[in-house]
Amino acid sequence: MSEQPAPPPAPGPRRVRVHHLRQMKEQARPITMLTAYDALVAAVFDEAGTDVLLVGDSYGTVVLGHPTTVGVRLEELLPVVRAVAGAVRRPLVVADLPFGSYGADPAQAMATAVRLMKEGEAHAVKLEGGRPVAASVRALVDAGVPVMGHLGFTPQSEHALGGFRVQGRGEEAAAAMLADALALQEAGAFAIVLEMVPPSTAQRLTRELAIPTIGIGAGTGCDGQVLVWTDMAGLTPRAPRLAKAYADLRGTLLDAARAYGEEVRSGAFPGPEQTYPEQATSPG
Ligand code: KIV
Repeated sequence: MSEQPAPPPAPGPRRVRVHHLRQMKEQARPITMLTAYDALVAAVFDEAGTDVLLVGDSYGTVVLGHPTTVGVRLEELLPVVRAVAGAVRRPLVVADLPFGSYGADPAQAMATAVRLMKEGEAHAVKLEGGRPVAASVRALVDAGVPVMGHLGFTPQSEHALGGFRVQGRGEEAAAAMLADALALQEAGAFAIVLEMVPPSTAQRLTRELAIPTIGIGAGTGCDGQVLVWTDMAGLTPRAPRLAKAYADLRGTLLDAARAYGEEVRSGAFPGPEQTYPEQATSPG
């Protein structure tokens, strides 16, 4: 059997909008999504054709070194969202609503989302949970805030879920997750992340929903995939099973820092190329 040609690269500099993601699902064109936490890396992923950049609250664990995402504050996330949104032209930039910033009621969710969109310049927000947050999703969508849902293992509920555990195993759990997903869709969510979900459950949700599913540890049956960028690039020392490293950034960085240290200690750096001449060179 001959190999299928690779799908065409992401189209030009056009901004990815939420309706493009729905079109991609309908056309069976997989959606690519990565986290980003700064302008430099976000610009690289834009150039690479990544469709969606998520300023996830994983910023707390990945960048700030917290044990969970629970402690991340809105004030910490806002400048990060702004840096990412300001650095890219094409990807849709989605910002996470941090734990404790939306769960009380729709008014709280609205206040947080408005700050992420006005001050952070996010294009959309993401929140965790199903039926209990549907009223908030409806309120945000009605006010013009695009909302991405997040079901399965929801890291903000790590303590309630009893740690990193696969969700949606077995008929009852799968049916409950489907009910949550349908409630989010009905409330106007434009896509749903499915994290640590068995492939059969993820496939079932993907089939039943009109909006795209984006998997992380949910098999190939989703409409797209998302990874934490440091896992994808091999910078995380102990990445979870669901991740694949496409580079050894940790090794590369380690080698570079060691080489730099050796050259500083030996006096080889800075060399003449990195040193300014005593006399200014004449103009022209
Ligand atoms: O915060 C995050 O990085 C996420 C992804 C794991 C989907 O929510």
